[in-house]
Amino acid sequence: MTDVQYKSGPVTRSKTLVIGNWKMNGSLESNRTLLDGIVAGVAGGDGKATMAVCAPFPYLAQVADVLAGTSISWGAQDVSAHDKGAYTGEVSASMLLEFNCSWAIVGHSERRAMHGETVELVADKAQAAAKAGITPVFCVGESLAEREAGQVQTVIAAQLAPLLAKGDELVARTVIAYEPVWAIGTGKTASPEQAQEVHAFIRAQLPTTAKEVPLLYGGSVKPDNAATLFAMDDIDGGLIGGAALVAKDFLAIATA
Ligand code: PGA
Repeated sequence: MTDVQYKSGPVTRSKTLVIGNWKMNGSLESNRTLLDGIVAGVAGGDGKATMAVCAPFPYLAQVADVLAGTSISWGAQDVSAHDKGAYTGEVSASMLLEFNCSWAIVGHSERRAMHGETVELVADKAQAAAKAGITPVFCVGESLAEREAGQVQTVIAAQLAPLLAKGDELVARTVIAYEPVWAIGTGKTASPEQAQEVHAFIRAQLPTTAKEVPLLYGGSVKPDNAATLFAMDDIDGGLIGGAALVAKDFLAIATA
Protein backbone atom coordinates (compact mmCIF):
# COMPACT_ATOMS: atom_id res chain seq x y z
CA MET A 1 0.00 0.00 0.00
CA THR A 2 2.63 2.51 1.03
CA ASP A 3 4.92 1.81 -1.92
CA VAL A 4 2.39 3.18 -4.43
CA GLN A 5 3.73 6.26 -6.20
CA TYR A 6 1.30 9.01 -7.14
CA LYS A 7 2.05 11.42 -9.94
CA SER A 8 -0.83 13.74 -9.05
CA GLY A 9 -0.18 16.21 -6.25
CA PRO A 10 -2.16 16.81 -3.06
CA VAL A 11 -5.27 18.98 -3.40
CA THR A 12 -6.47 21.63 -0.99
CA ARG A 13 -9.56 23.77 -0.68
CA SER A 14 -7.91 27.13 -1.08
CA LYS A 15 -10.29 28.22 -3.87
CA THR A 16 -13.90 27.35 -4.69
CA LEU A 17 -13.86 24.46 -7.14
CA VAL A 18 -16.67 24.15 -9.67
CA ILE A 19 -16.64 21.11 -11.94
CA GLY A 20 -19.17 20.54 -14.72
CA ASN A 21 -20.29 16.97 -15.35
CA TRP A 22 -21.73 16.94 -18.84
CA LYS A 23 -22.86 13.31 -18.53
CA MET A 24 -23.86 11.83 -21.91
CA ASN A 25 -24.67 15.16 -23.51
CA GLY A 26 -23.13 17.23 -26.26
CA SER A 27 -22.06 17.22 -29.88
CA LEU A 28 -19.06 18.78 -31.59
CA GLU A 29 -21.22 21.74 -32.49
CA SER A 30 -22.99 22.30 -29.16
CA ASN A 31 -19.75 21.72 -27.20
CA ARG A 32 -18.08 24.45 -29.20
CA THR A 33 -20.85 26.93 -28.42
CA LEU A 34 -20.85 25.96 -24.75
CA LEU A 35 -17.06 26.13 -24.36
CA ASP A 36 -16.79 29.41 -26.25
CA GLY A 37 -19.46 30.86 -23.96
CA ILE A 38 -17.65 29.69 -20.83
CA VAL A 39 -14.26 30.94 -22.04
CA ALA A 40 -15.71 34.35 -22.94
CA GLY A 41 -17.43 34.61 -19.56
CA VAL A 42 -14.36 33.59 -17.61
CA ALA A 43 -12.27 36.21 -19.38
CA GLY A 44 -14.47 38.90 -17.88
CA GLY A 45 -15.05 37.12 -14.57
CA ASP A 46 -13.60 37.50 -11.10
CA GLY A 47 -11.44 34.36 -11.26
CA LYS A 48 -12.45 33.47 -7.70
CA ALA A 49 -13.31 29.88 -8.58
CA THR A 50 -11.31 27.12 -10.19
CA MET A 51 -13.42 25.81 -13.07
CA ALA A 52 -13.33 22.53 -14.92
CA VAL A 53 -15.52 20.49 -17.25
CA CYS A 54 -15.77 16.70 -17.45
CA ALA A 55 -16.80 15.70 -20.96
CA PRO A 56 -17.62 12.39 -22.67
CA PHE A 57 -14.48 10.55 -23.81
CA PRO A 58 -14.80 11.22 -27.57
CA TYR A 59 -14.92 14.96 -26.97
CA LEU A 60 -11.80 15.23 -24.79
CA ALA A 61 -9.62 16.11 -27.78
CA GLN A 62 -12.00 18.90 -28.72
CA VAL A 63 -12.24 20.19 -25.17
CA ALA A 64 -8.45 20.07 -24.81
CA ASP A 65 -8.09 22.02 -28.02
CA VAL A 66 -10.59 24.74 -27.11
CA LEU A 67 -9.56 25.13 -23.46
CA ALA A 68 -5.77 24.94 -23.88
CA GLY A 69 -4.24 28.18 -22.60
CA THR A 70 -7.37 29.18 -20.63
CA SER A 71 -7.78 28.98 -16.87
CA ILE A 72 -10.37 26.20 -17.27
CA SER A 73 -9.21 22.63 -16.85
CA TRP A 74 -10.95 19.45 -18.04
CA GLY A 75 -11.37 15.81 -17.32
CA ALA A 76 -13.32 12.62 -17.87
CA GLN A 77 -16.40 11.15 -16.23
CA ASP A 78 -14.87 7.76 -15.53
CA VAL A 79 -11.54 5.94 -15.77
CA SER A 80 -10.51 2.31 -15.80
CA ALA A 81 -8.98 0.75 -12.73
CA HIS A 82 -6.57 -1.06 -15.06
CA ASP A 83 -3.45 0.23 -16.79
CA LYS A 84 -3.98 -1.48 -20.15
CA GLY A 85 -4.99 -4.72 -21.78
CA ALA A 86 -8.09 -6.73 -22.60
CA TYR A 87 -10.75 -4.43 -21.14
CA THR A 88 -13.01 -3.69 -24.08
CA GLY A 89 -14.69 -0.33 -23.83
CA GLU A 90 -12.54 0.97 -20.99
CA VAL A 91 -10.28 4.01 -21.02
CA SER A 92 -7.10 4.15 -18.93
CA ALA A 93 -5.78 7.04 -16.90
CA SER A 94 -2.66 7.23 -19.10
CA MET A 95 -4.91 7.69 -22.14
CA LEU A 96 -6.71 10.54 -20.38
CA LEU A 97 -3.37 12.08 -19.59
CA GLU A 98 -2.53 12.20 -23.29
CA PHE A 99 -5.44 14.62 -23.63
CA ASN A 100 -4.14 16.62 -20.65
CA CYS A 101 -7.04 15.69 -18.41
CA SER A 102 -6.64 17.00 -14.89
CA TRP A 103 -9.66 15.22 -13.41
CA ALA A 104 -11.56 11.95 -13.55
CA ILE A 105 -14.91 11.52 -11.87
CA VAL A 106 -15.13 8.09 -10.21
CA GLY A 107 -18.07 6.38 -8.58
CA HIS A 108 -20.79 8.68 -9.83
CA SER A 109 -24.08 7.28 -8.52
CA GLU A 110 -25.27 6.70 -12.09
CA ARG A 111 -22.31 4.39 -12.64
CA ARG A 112 -22.68 2.72 -9.27
CA ALA A 113 -26.38 2.08 -9.97
CA MET A 114 -26.40 1.34 -13.71
CA HIS A 115 -23.00 -0.28 -14.18
CA GLY A 116 -22.75 -2.22 -10.96
CA GLU A 117 -19.63 -0.44 -9.76
CA THR A 118 -18.69 -1.67 -6.30
CA VAL A 119 -17.16 0.46 -3.55
CA GLU A 120 -13.87 -1.39 -4.01
CA LEU A 121 -13.81 -0.80 -7.78
CA VAL A 122 -14.44 2.92 -7.29
CA ALA A 123 -11.48 3.17 -4.91
CA ASP A 124 -9.32 1.22 -7.39
CA LYS A 125 -10.29 3.71 -10.10
CA ALA A 126 -9.37 6.64 -7.84
CA GLN A 127 -5.99 5.06 -7.21
CA ALA A 128 -5.37 4.38 -10.92
CA ALA A 129 -6.13 8.01 -11.72
CA ALA A 130 -3.84 9.46 -9.04
CA LYS A 131 -1.03 7.08 -9.94
CA ALA A 132 -1.11 8.36 -13.52
CA GLY A 133 -1.27 12.02 -12.49
CA ILE A 134 -5.00 12.71 -12.63
CA THR A 135 -7.01 13.96 -9.65
CA PRO A 136 -9.94 11.68 -8.87
CA VAL A 137 -13.29 13.27 -8.07
CA PHE A 138 -14.68 10.58 -5.80
CA CYS A 139 -18.48 10.62 -5.55
CA VAL A 140 -20.47 9.43 -2.57
CA GLY A 141 -24.12 9.80 -1.66
CA GLU A 142 -27.17 8.09 -0.25
CA SER A 143 -30.51 7.24 -1.85
CA LEU A 144 -33.79 8.63 -0.59
CA ALA A 145 -34.68 5.28 1.00
CA GLU A 146 -31.35 5.25 2.83
CA ARG A 147 -31.85 8.81 4.06
CA GLU A 148 -35.35 8.03 5.27
CA ALA A 149 -34.04 4.95 7.06
CA GLY A 150 -31.51 7.11 8.92
CA GLN A 151 -28.57 5.45 7.18
CA VAL A 152 -26.83 8.46 5.65
CA GLN A 153 -23.64 8.18 7.70
CA THR A 154 -23.47 4.40 7.43
CA VAL A 155 -23.78 4.53 3.64
CA ILE A 156 -21.23 7.32 3.20
CA ALA A 157 -18.78 5.66 5.56
CA ALA A 158 -19.06 2.40 3.60
CA GLN A 159 -18.43 4.22 0.32
CA LEU A 160 -15.40 6.01 1.75
CA ALA A 161 -13.90 3.00 3.53
CA PRO A 162 -12.10 1.40 0.54
CA LEU A 163 -10.60 4.79 -0.39
CA LEU A 164 -9.40 5.43 3.17
CA ALA A 165 -7.97 1.91 3.27
CA LYS A 166 -5.66 2.76 0.38
CA GLY A 167 -3.79 5.18 2.56
CA ASP A 168 -3.54 8.84 3.46
CA GLU A 169 -1.39 9.68 0.44
CA LEU A 170 -4.23 8.84 -1.92
CA VAL A 171 -6.90 10.57 0.14
CA ALA A 172 -4.82 13.76 0.15
CA ARG A 173 -4.90 13.64 -3.67
CA THR A 174 -8.65 13.16 -3.96
CA VAL A 175 -11.55 15.57 -4.34
CA ILE A 176 -14.66 14.13 -2.71
CA ALA A 177 -18.11 15.00 -4.04
CA TYR A 178 -21.18 14.46 -1.90
CA GLU A 179 -24.12 13.91 -4.22
CA PRO A 180 -27.30 12.68 -2.56
CA VAL A 181 -28.89 10.43 -5.20
CA TRP A 182 -32.32 11.92 -4.56
CA ALA A 183 -31.04 15.39 -5.48
CA ILE A 184 -29.39 14.49 -8.79
CA GLY A 185 -31.26 15.82 -11.79
CA THR A 186 -34.46 16.02 -9.75
CA GLY A 187 -34.53 19.72 -8.98
CA LYS A 188 -34.52 18.79 -5.27
CA THR A 189 -31.42 20.17 -3.61
CA ALA A 190 -30.21 19.20 -0.17
CA SER A 191 -30.62 22.24 2.05
CA PRO A 192 -27.33 23.94 2.85
CA GLU A 193 -27.66 22.59 6.42
CA GLN A 194 -28.33 19.03 5.25
CA ALA A 195 -25.36 19.16 2.91
CA GLN A 196 -23.09 20.76 5.51
CA GLU A 197 -23.95 18.07 8.03
CA VAL A 198 -22.81 15.33 5.63
CA HIS A 199 -19.74 17.30 4.53
CA ALA A 200 -18.68 17.75 8.16
CA PHE A 201 -19.16 14.02 8.67
CA ILE A 202 -17.02 13.26 5.60
CA ARG A 203 -14.28 15.64 6.72
CA ALA A 204 -14.25 14.02 10.15
CA GLN A 205 -13.51 10.66 8.49
CA LEU A 206 -10.46 11.98 6.66
CA PRO A 207 -6.93 11.39 7.93
CA THR A 208 -5.12 14.37 9.48
CA THR A 209 -2.94 14.89 6.42
CA ALA A 210 -5.99 15.04 4.12
CA LYS A 211 -8.34 17.22 6.17
CA GLU A 212 -8.13 20.08 3.67
CA VAL A 213 -9.11 18.26 0.49
CA PRO A 214 -11.96 19.96 -1.39
CA LEU A 215 -15.42 18.57 -0.61
CA LEU A 216 -17.87 19.37 -3.41
CA TYR A 217 -21.65 19.25 -3.22
CA GLY A 218 -23.60 17.99 -6.21
CA GLY A 219 -27.29 17.55 -6.91
CA SER A 220 -29.39 20.19 -8.65
CA VAL A 221 -26.96 23.03 -7.98
CA LYS A 222 -28.27 26.09 -9.82
CA PRO A 223 -27.31 29.77 -9.98
CA ASP A 224 -29.95 30.58 -7.37
CA ASN A 225 -28.88 28.07 -4.73
CA ALA A 226 -25.11 27.88 -5.28
CA ALA A 227 -24.17 30.83 -3.07
CA THR A 228 -25.89 29.54 0.06
CA LEU A 229 -24.48 26.05 -0.45
CA PHE A 230 -20.93 27.25 -1.08
CA ALA A 231 -21.12 29.53 1.96
CA MET A 232 -21.23 26.53 4.29
CA ASP A 233 -18.03 25.77 6.20
CA ASP A 234 -17.28 22.40 4.66
CA ILE A 235 -18.67 22.92 1.16
CA ASP A 236 -15.78 23.90 -1.08
CA GLY A 237 -17.55 24.01 -4.42
CA GLY A 238 -19.84 21.96 -6.60
CA LEU A 239 -20.14 19.14 -9.10
CA ILE A 240 -22.66 20.48 -11.56
CA GLY A 241 -24.75 18.42 -13.97
CA GLY A 242 -27.64 20.04 -15.84
CA ALA A 243 -26.60 23.63 -15.14
CA ALA A 244 -23.11 22.98 -16.56
CA LEU A 245 -24.65 22.61 -20.02
CA VAL A 246 -25.69 26.27 -20.09
CA ALA A 247 -22.71 28.63 -20.20
CA LYS A 248 -24.37 31.49 -18.33
CA ASP A 249 -25.65 29.20 -15.56
CA PHE A 250 -22.29 27.48 -15.16
CA LEU A 251 -20.56 30.85 -14.99
CA ALA A 252 -23.10 32.19 -12.52
CA ILE A 253 -22.49 29.19 -10.27
CA ALA A 254 -18.74 29.72 -10.45
CA THR A 255 -19.10 33.33 -9.32
CA ALA A 256 -21.60 32.49 -6.56
P1 PGA B 1 -27.38 17.71 -11.52
O1 PGA B 1 -26.27 16.53 -11.58
O2 PGA B 1 -26.64 18.97 -11.23
O3 PGA B 1 -28.01 17.69 -12.88
O4 PGA B 1 -28.32 17.34 -10.44
C1 PGA B 1 -25.17 16.53 -10.71
C2 PGA B 1 -24.34 15.31 -10.96
O5 PGA B 1 -24.93 14.23 -11.19
O6 PGA B 1 -23.10 15.36 -10.94
